[in-house]
Amino acid sequence: MVHYFINTLNKKGHLHPELQGHFSEHLGRCIYEGLYVGENSEIPNRNGMRIDVVDALKEMGIPVLRWPGGCFADEYHWMDGIGPKEKRKCMVNTHWGGVTEDNSFGTHEFMELCDQLGCKNYINGNVGSGSVREMSEWVEYMTLDGISPMTKLRKENGREDPWTINFFGVGNENWGCGGNMTPEYYGNLYRNYQTYVRTYDPKKPIFKIACGANADDYEWTRGVCQTCFKSPEWMHGFMDGISLHYYTVPDTWEKKGSATDFDEKDWYKTLKKTLKMEELIRRHTAILDQYDVNRKVGLIVDEWGTWYDVEPGTNPGFLYQQNTIRDALVAGINLNIFNKHCDRVRMANIAQMVNVLQAVILTDGEKMIKTPTYHIFKMYKVHQDAELLDSHIDTTEIGLEDENKVPNLTESVSLGKDGKIHITMTNLSCSEAYDVDTAITAEGDIKSVTGEIVNGKIDDHNTFEDPEKVTLKAFDAVKAEGSRLTFTIPAASVLHLEVTV
Ligand code: AHR
Repeated sequence: MVHYFINTLNKKGHLHPELQGHFSEHLGRCIYEGLYVGENSEIPNRNGMRIDVVDALKEMGIPVLRWPGGCFADEYHWMDGIGPKEKRKCMVNTHWGGVTEDNSFGTHEFMELCDQLGCKNYINGNVGSGSVREMSEWVEYMTLDGISPMTKLRKENGREDPWTINFFGVGNENWGCGGNMTPEYYGNLYRNYQTYVRTYDPKKPIFKIACGANADDYEWTRGVCQTCFKSPEWMHGFMDGISLHYYTVPDTWEKKGSATDFDEKDWYKTLKKTLKMEELIRRHTAILDQYDVNRKVGLIVDEWGTWYDVEPGTNPGFLYQQNTIRDALVAGINLNIFNKHCDRVRMANIAQMVNVLQAVILTDGEKMIKTPTYHIFKMYKVHQDAELLDSHIDTTEIGLEDENKVPNLTESVSLGKDGKIHITMTNLSCSEAYDVDTAITAEGDIKSVTGEIVNGKIDDHNTFEDPEKVTLKAFDAVKAEGSRLTFTIPAASVLHLEVTV
């Protein structure tokens, strides 16, 4: 029997909806075909955006969307993506397959997409190959409500009112594809560039994000902080967040492993690597704590998820991969970790939303399917804007190889806006179910409990021929008595229980 404790009287922090954010890059079939098909497409669309995909994403619950990259961001010149489409300049997408980008999806289209999705925007500016002026004029173009050359241009392009920028990234992976910089060099550039990311409307401050580290590159975080935080008062309106990128790659970067053809050893190895996220957040937080003692600067995990070898026969530069029950586990584990670290983690964006890496949606021409990861996001949306509750579970170590042992269970619990307690739990074992005895400390007894689950064989996945193989199912094998809940969590599963007290 596994013992599990929840104390509803001890709230541990706010779960910002943006912990469940997404990312869309000009990469492969993410933007073109996946999200945007143009007004003249045969695929049903609203102002060029696929209706099926937008509707599915809204149902899933998408709080924020990052764009235009990734590596693409630091070679993107926003002025090429405005004005009449037939006059827009083409470019070569050197990072992703060397394809010609016609810039038909630009600033106006991205803002339209966010409007249709009802989500916040997170725009990533170009430091690597851009200029301070270019970044500053982009912000002016988007947000100034006054008389200026940029607002004139925006109005000429059909948009009278300014938009709001919610989050703005000053460069992406500037330690690598974004310019191969040192942390000190980037830190100085950050100080310079961010100065001109002006908040024109004081009621709508722009949340500014510095480029943070790749995985366990703690020297990067330390170097940027050292350069930027000369004194604590500098921080106000200077840096609101710093990013962290970490991908779950089962094997090596050269030979990552297949998305669907894997065995139980690969399963545990993948989950072990996923759990590293916890250590990364803890250790980067410890560095930030030395500079930002009041924890004002958020850790922004704006790229995470599984990265496998591309599906056989697809363009290696398009990063198209399938998605199985293993990915459902990776999603559930990560989202539980972000919840548990909500005192520092302010936003997280899975890579990427459609047709790229750990996508929630895959398309094939006019067809669309939802992946197991989609169902986990849909399941976890109850945590958006909720309060994290104190919880503890007694876990045991499981796995087939000594170096790849993992805890059998992970969990997080929140008190939702609906007044209900939401438990999300992952079972990492591919073969064992566990009996869980839950003691809930609350001001009354349990009145009712309902559940939903995603589970199956470890490599189960949805295809265009069998789109509903993995989906959310009702889970009612749970017993409530007084302040105790007992249930059996099946192997290889992600479970949500909704408890009314
Ligand atoms: O998500 C794919 C790529 O991974 C992004 O463009 C880049 O930021 C990261 O290296």
